[in-house]
Amino acid sequence: MNSGRRAVARAHANIALAKYWGKADDVHNVPAVTSVSVTLEALTTTTEVRFDPSLAVDRLELDGREAEGRALERVTALLDRVRRAASIETRARVASRNSFPTGSGLASSASGFAALAIAARSAAGLELDRDRASDLARRSSASAARSIHGGFVRLRAGEPGDAFLPAEPVAPASHWDLRVVVAVTTKGPKKVGSTEGMGHTARTSPYYPGWIALCQRLSAEVERAVLARDLRALGEAAEQSALAMHACAMAAGPALIYLEPSTLGCVHAVRAMRDRGVAAWATIDAGPHVKVLTTGGDAERVRQELASLPGVVDTIVSRVGGDATVELEEA
Ligand code: DP6
Repeated sequence: MNSGRRAVARAHANIALAKYWGKADDVHNVPAVTSVSVTLEALTTTTEVRFDPSLAVDRLELDGREAEGRALERVTALLDRVRRAASIETRARVASRNSFPTGSGLASSASGFAALAIAARSAAGLELDRDRASDLARRSSASAARSIHGGFVRLRAGEPGDAFLPAEPVAPASHWDLRVVVAVTTKGPKKVGSTEGMGHTARTSPYYPGWIALCQRLSAEVERAVLARDLRALGEAAEQSALAMHACAMAAGPALIYLEPSTLGCVHAVRAMRDRGVAAWATIDAGPHVKVLTTGGDAERVRQELASLPGVVDTIVSRVGGDATVELEEA
């Protein structure tokens, strides 16, 4: 029994350059499209897991506060998979912290489930196997599969019924010293979560088949541009992927609109910067914040311009982050 082991894992958030939006299989959480991401050094989740024989149920602390409900259920679902793999039944204490401001609305599920997958497997006495950890994280949130690896990462589209689908490294963080500037914008009404949003899009948007077809081309273009370190080609493909995803969601019935006025303000500012010769391309996930791909030389200028826009409440400049890591201690 490994009840005395405490594992602490750190994983970085990632931003998809070629977006995942749509599932081939809801039960096994298999993506319908291939996505390619960059791991963000500045946004980190640290998660501690300890299996504790005195517990009757799993316990979860998020940023210092006891969490229950849906958040705890999702953590227990992942822990149940680990318990089955390790042939144990012990419940666990999980404590997770984000380096980025809580409540900023910046997605934490990718780094959160990646850190949890790695920490839980180690605490249960399973070996550090990145493919298994990535596959485990994917079952909780597909974008989390990518946060197991640093640098640039691919998660392939799968087939219905696929039981094993880990993310794969495309290039390490050392391959390309890109910068990503995050513009945290004021929040609008409560957003629809990604899982629900992509399901609704797939069911009701007339553009969904077009989106699926486009993704095949864009994910290949993104990967080619990453390998060639071609920021213009990468930026153009990434911007099209993000805006096509949002166009597809906006054509759903009823419309799914994640973009706020401040979001569009950032996108227009990025395009205007480009006209002035600044290397800057925007991408947006299922929320109002904007992430801008740029170079080390232009990052501060991009950050300042974004920070001066109405509705932008914070800015973060990130380098490309490394692999998720874990430390194990015998308690
Ligand atoms: C817009 O990974 O959160 O951020 O697998 O249903 O948990 P589930 O979805 P999730 O979706 C992320 C969607 C996205 C694009 C991306 O990260 O590729």
